[in-house]
Amino acid sequence: MTKLTYFGHSAFLVEHDKYKILIDPFLDGNPLSPVKANQVSADFIVLSHGHGDHYGDSEKIAKRCNSLIIAVNELANYVASKGLKAHNMHIGGSYEFPFGRVKFTIAHHGSSSGEGEYLGEPAGILLFLNGKTIYHAGDTSLFYDMKLIGEMYNIDVALLPIGDNFTMGLQDALKAVEFLNPKLTIPMHYNTFPVIKADADKFVEEVLKMNKKARKLNFGETIEL
Ligand code: NI
Ligand code: MN
Repeated sequence: MTKLTYFGHSAFLVEHDKYKILIDPFLDGNPLSPVKANQVSADFIVLSHGHGDHYGDSEKIAKRCNSLIIAVNELANYVASKGLKAHNMHIGGSYEFPFGRVKFTIAHHGSSSGEGEYLGEPAGILLFLNGKTIYHAGDTSLFYDMKLIGEMYNIDVALLPIGDNFTMGLQDALKAVEFLNPKLTIPMHYNTFPVIKADADKFVEEVLKMNKKARKLNFGETIEL
């Protein structure tokens, strides 16, 4: 069984077998997060890019839990420079971890540390585990290669940013659903800050009108895949 929990913004916990995999754990800095960093644990942390609202509490959690941080090369090197365990990958590459396979895809965005250090290209994340495929788009604009990702990887769950301003907004995210053709779409990266206020219910409604499944997860809600 695989469980998916949403912590708000782009932060998700995937639980599979005995493994806990955190994605983009931005918790303490997010007033809407239902948990604090010291309340979650992770064997693995997968990062889409280095921005503070994704890198978040990675250092705190990884130090406490001895987590392995999985990221593109430049970001992984930054993580290692903080004395943490990192697995360096890059876009287009995949690797088999004890819980399943991770593959990084392109994402159109930026990536830097809080100090402004360039941390390589931002990425989307494909997780293949327990016969399911989860696509976490990271922060990105709409791009036509989503069609290719959808065709090749038979996505069960797509986690898509809808908050606009820094990423896709509603209109573009709906086109992304069409390109990716996932079995289920879950909106993310909205309402955390005033500039990314978005109507997730409206988004879900519009996806349903396309005869496709979508649902909004409450902050802290868990679903079984
Ligand atoms: Ni970002
Ligand atoms: Mn972001």
